[in-house]
Amino acid sequence: MPTQEPVKIAPAEGKLGVMIPGMGAVGTTFVAGVEAIRRGLGKPVGSLTQMATVRLGKRTEGRSPLIKDLVPLASLDDLVFAGWDIFEDTAYEAAVKAGVLERTLIDQLKDMLTGLKPMPAVFDPNYVHRLSGPNVKPGNTLMDKADAVMQDIRDFKASSGASRLVMIWCGSTEVHHKPAAPHMSLAAFEEGLCKNDPNIAPSQVYSYAALKSGVPFANGAPNLTNDVPALAELAKITETPHCGKDFKTGQTFMKTLVAPGLKARMLGVQGWFSTNILGNRDGEVLDDPEAFKTKEETKLSVLDYILQPQLYPDLYTNVCHEVRINYYPPRGDAKEGWDNVDIFGWLGYPMQIKINFLCRDSILAAPLVLDLVLFLDLAQRAGMRGIQEWLSFYFKGPMTAPGLYPEHDIFIQLMKLKNTLRWMKGEDLITHLGLEYYD
Ligand SMILES: NC(=O)c1ccc[n+]([C@@H]2O[C@H](COP(=O)([O-])OP(=O)(O)OC[C@H]3O[C@@H](n4cnc5c(N)ncnc54)[C@H](O)[C@@H]3O)[C@@H](O)[C@H]2O)c1
Repeated sequence: MPTQEPVKIAPAEGKLGVMIPGMGAVGTTFVAGVEAIRRGLGKPVGSLTQMATVRLGKRTEGRSPLIKDLVPLASLDDLVFAGWDIFEDTAYEAAVKAGVLERTLIDQLKDMLTGLKPMPAVFDPNYVHRLSGPNVKPGNTLMDKADAVMQDIRDFKASSGASRLVMIWCGSTEVHHKPAAPHMSLAAFEEGLCKNDPNIAPSQVYSYAALKSGVPFANGAPNLTNDVPALAELAKITETPHCGKDFKTGQTFMKTLVAPGLKARMLGVQGWFSTNILGNRDGEVLDDPEAFKTKEETKLSVLDYILQPQLYPDLYTNVCHEVRINYYPPRGDAKEGWDNVDIFGWLGYPMQIKINFLCRDSILAAPLVLDLVLFLDLAQRAGMRGIQEWLSFYFKGPMTAPGLYPEHDIFIQLMKLKNTLRWMKGEDLITHLGLEYYD
């Protein structure tokens, strides 16, 4: 029987507005996908909120409701969308250019996608070197631009009739930058916005505007964005949930499946070489070494945290871990990743694993966007605020409280996510001890 009181969760009444900075391949595949599913043209494959169940109680009880029947989530029919981009293309035109979905499907959704026109973006070419576009906000200071985004938020809420909003960054990867003085406190950040401090990236202007407006925020790219003390402070003040960063799809998803398995069996790893070819706009942006550096950081960090060389020096000391991304236009969004893993077993005998993943980046990312939107909205209605570590499952570089190392093992992340849902509903957490079945 349940041992704790359920958390009070406000019902998911009315429409949920989804606001997307960056209406490129991922953004449009998500929006078009939701519309296709609503029209019965496809299934939400890859989405936990739509397809997964949670076991409740003992294995003998046979209780495994769908997540969406256990907790009150916004229904797909209640989602409405808005976005920002530096290009003026409607979501229809952007989806055609992205070339992820088949033209015949996009054409069936043309009426809805044509109605979604991106609002002018907050953009700084110093943060994304390979792109430039005409649809950008004027304004003397970054604070003017943050005010303009907050006005966009209010206007969209009024025009769409949404009762709640969520913002999710699906914009390009920004160049690598480290936390600097204006990121250290909210006061310093606001001063930096007024003084146009070059350390403040455009994605941070959106994140500031969202959190200041009490709109939950997720970051799908590896940028610093909301992962700085100033914005954590703001989220606390406005009691707003947020999370990031960098959607865990493709090669890193595979890595976080395989590495915990090797460690579970105490098999050693000598080296892990990962390379990719990718031909979409994301690939073009990542062809810039400074943008790649941002990506490399989240991609490289996972193995160290999973393998824990400090606990297992005989197995995982000095693992040679290399990651490459090559921009190769013919492939478009259909990325191909190769991994060569040099492992060793009993008495140190060497073995190799080769993984060749022919994936579709945005097809893998779209269901993560959906889940993050619905779970962040749930978190807000459940009174949860600040960093949502239970959503680590979706990220290559999960954000955590200061001083806490991130959990990268996808199976631990999944258990954390499902136990959080059980906790919300006052259900027993599942420990998998199971001794009671043998009493
Ligand atoms: N597809 C995946 O599997 C995956 C996985 C992890 C992370 N990501 C990240 O998600 C992001 C989106 O990926 P994508 O494939 O859709 O890329 P994309 O290039 O197709 O789309 C990004 C869009 O963002 C726009 N943009 C750039 N700066 C902006 C700004 N300041 N304001 C508003 N719009 C801006 C660009 O014009 C572009 O249309 C990238 O950062 C990517 O690294 C994608």
